[in-house]
Amino acid sequence: MDTIHRGLNGVNVDTSRICSIDGEAGRLIYRGYDITELADLASFEEVVHLLWFGELPTRSELDALRRTIAFDLPEPVLDMLAGLPKGTHPMHALRTGVSMLSAFDDDPDGVDESNVRRIGLSLLGRVPALVAAHQRIQAGGAPVEPDPDASVASNLLRMVNGETPTDAAVRVMDVALVLHAEHGSNASTFVGRATASTLTDAYSAITAAVGSLKGPLHGGANAAVMQALEEIGSVEAVEKYVLDTLASEKGRVMGFGHRVYRVMDPRATILKDVSRKLAEESGDSKWFEMSLEMERVMEREMGARGKQVAPNVDFFSASVYRMLGFEKETYTPIFAIARVAGWMAHLFEQYADNRLMRPRLVYEGETGKAFAPIAQRG
Ligand SMILES: CC(C)(COP(=O)(O)OP(=O)(O)OC[C@H]1O[C@@H](n2cnc3c(N)ncnc32)[C@H](O)[C@@H]1OP(=O)(O)O)[C@@H](O)C(=O)NCCC(=O)NCCS
Repeated sequence: MDTIHRGLNGVNVDTSRICSIDGEAGRLIYRGYDITELADLASFEEVVHLLWFGELPTRSELDALRRTIAFDLPEPVLDMLAGLPKGTHPMHALRTGVSMLSAFDDDPDGVDESNVRRIGLSLLGRVPALVAAHQRIQAGGAPVEPDPDASVASNLLRMVNGETPTDAAVRVMDVALVLHAEHGSNASTFVGRATASTLTDAYSAITAAVGSLKGPLHGGANAAVMQALEEIGSVEAVEKYVLDTLASEKGRVMGFGHRVYRVMDPRATILKDVSRKLAEESGDSKWFEMSLEMERVMEREMGARGKQVAPNVDFFSASVYRMLGFEKETYTPIFAIARVAGWMAHLFEQYADNRLMRPRLVYEGETGKAFAPIAQRG
């Protein structure tokens, strides 16, 4: 019997020096640094440097990196966004936009290190610009000019909300970007690496990764969490919702469970704290209180069923993004903006020492059938 690893569970496809996850202890490490410390002390741009170059930047390296990030979009890409039908999901718009950017790049196909790094730098600013421009255009407005001296976190808030963000909001955004920047061989990163393993271009790999991230079992879960919270509407209604969902055919409560973590995702622990603080500061504690209640009921129910299913990164990010003023349709694109950092780090590694990814499937279909010409088929 051939061994089958459904969902590639437990399969090591290669080695990597970027990120390590201890699912039993609930620890996440980027290049040797614990995520809790990075979320506390580092900016998104520092983490990008860490993931891409293996070390935290010096002041001058950080300044140089920040100067290179540009948020400009080619005019035809803006026209494309303007031509999308009202209601186009931002992840469809983003996937199309990333793909289209390749046509405006003088060297989209080179997979040597310096060219792929150049593309990565270009996408760091252009992915948030695409997300923000799509949202503004869909709302009937025009894209908002970025502040060339401001960070990715600050510009994301500025370009989406149309006003200069507060320092506190920028810091929360930065923490969310740091937490979502990288996570090993998750589905979209694997898709990106597998795509790059054909030695196709980085735009194709990132386009494929964006498509993968959109799914509700992956990055789409944060929007699904807010959808659920909105439907539930009150703390009192949470318990019934959870019990009904668990009893339903699909039986999944979004924002819980993980392929690797058996305990609470460390990113969820940090975001829970952020969500609590935002709720206290804003006086709008509804979303946090409902999340707490959902966590409580899930812990009881999963415990009773002997399952190790705890909150994941998407669970508390939903209430955090809500309190930062984002529409729920923008939650998954925010994940993508951050994950460009991790996706690109993995593309550098893949292109540097490539082997085509080509697993197999065990055939269970029929054999030996005789071909009948079409006139003889009933
Ligand atoms: C993330 C996820 C796809 C991981 O799936 P997986 O590693 O294939 O794990 P499984 O689907 O085999 O789940 C293992 C068990 O836990 C249960 N479980 C997992 N996630 C659950 C959830 N969110 N709600 C209820 N039960 C869940 C499954 O029913 C399964 O029970 P069983 O063994 O009795 O069949 C899964 O946990 C899930 O669908 N979560 C909701 C979506 C989500 O939040 N995704 C974001 C991930 S960061």
